[in-house]
Amino acid sequence: MAGSNRIEIDEDILDLRPSWLTVDLAAIQHNAQVVMAHAGAKRLIAVVKANAYGHGVGPVAQALLAIGVKDFAVATVGEGVQLRQILPQSDVNITLLGVQPVEDAVAMVNYQLMPAVGDLDWLTKAAELIGPDRPSLGIQLAVNTGMGRIGAASADAVADLYRHIEDDEHFHLGGVFTHYATADDTNQEYYDRQRKRFADWVTAAGIPQKYWHQANSGSALYHADQIDTGTIRVGSVLYGYNPGDPLLKTDVDLQPAMALHTRIGGVHQLQPGDGVSYGATYVADKPQWVATLPIGYADGYIRRFGGMRVLVNGHEEHVIGRVTMDQIVITLRKQLPVGTEVTLLGRDGDQAITIEELAAKGETIPHEVLTNFSVRLPRHYRS
Ligand SMILES: Cc1ncc(COP(=O)(O)O)c(C=O)c1O
Repeated sequence: MAGSNRIEIDEDILDLRPSWLTVDLAAIQHNAQVVMAHAGAKRLIAVVKANAYGHGVGPVAQALLAIGVKDFAVATVGEGVQLRQILPQSDVNITLLGVQPVEDAVAMVNYQLMPAVGDLDWLTKAAELIGPDRPSLGIQLAVNTGMGRIGAASADAVADLYRHIEDDEHFHLGGVFTHYATADDTNQEYYDRQRKRFADWVTAAGIPQKYWHQANSGSALYHADQIDTGTIRVGSVLYGYNPGDPLLKTDVDLQPAMALHTRIGGVHQLQPGDGVSYGATYVADKPQWVATLPIGYADGYIRRFGGMRVLVNGHEEHVIGRVTMDQIVITLRKQLPVGTEVTLLGRDGDQAITIEELAAKGETIPHEVLTNFSVRLPRHYRS
């Protein structure tokens, strides 16, 4: 700009990158509704930690609010404050699922965030920090029935904590919960041990059922007839995938919310003996068209996706050679124009690449793939 020493940025340019995620908000709303119906739930605590499993916490939280969801859960105080900025309505409840630094107790009061708490010591210190004349802090009483991470781990410990929360004016009960270690696999015996402990301990403590929430996605899909599911607390199913796959199948109509696309950045022909990418681990044995795509492991398209299927014009092609930080190379059955769209995750014609398939290729789980998609990928929203 004339006369100025600053270069002004048009923010829209950041969304123009030819590699992008598409998030289908209507699919997330649909998934919330079908999972609640399947589990017979009246209330949904939407787990939107880690930027809503990579889908973008702002648009996801707004879309869920629009269908009446008033309860959300995240993992950290920072995520809680960010969500409170997005949803300042005082009737929106925000739970913090992980262990929280007690030093942040006053911030939790100020932003109306309900921490998971599993020990008395935390409450004693928090009460000192909160002091007099502040509103009371909602507590999510955490019960460790077998996950082995956080929570009161006996009937007595649950009863002591509950009594303390009820008796100390600094606190009020926001909920009581446990988390299942084997809800999405076939270890029913371990599941039964956990569900029995939870029901026994919270019943003995006298905590009314309206405060209970236990069901993660695996429980909502596969154990809804075994536990109280008046309130469910789910993440994966909202985003349209089955955490039990491939071990357990479901008839619930989950619609995948995330797709990943890119556009061909360059096309060239390899000659016999020509290698591709670091280490030249792929070498052509005949003349062969290939395309270079502007995406790599810095975007979350991790190195273990080498060899993965991709879809071009409804046909299957494959990643060849090593995935690099910003670029990958794919096979082409014929020369194609620069700019041709490529599907790395999602549907193209009657073919689809699912998050479950991508995760299996990466020797990981869908949660990890989705939360690994980096900020460098613009997210486009469909509603
Ligand atoms: C305590 C707790 N509850 C619920 C969830 C949601 O789990 P899922 O995505 O399997 O529904 C998580 C996710 O890690 C969690 O840590």
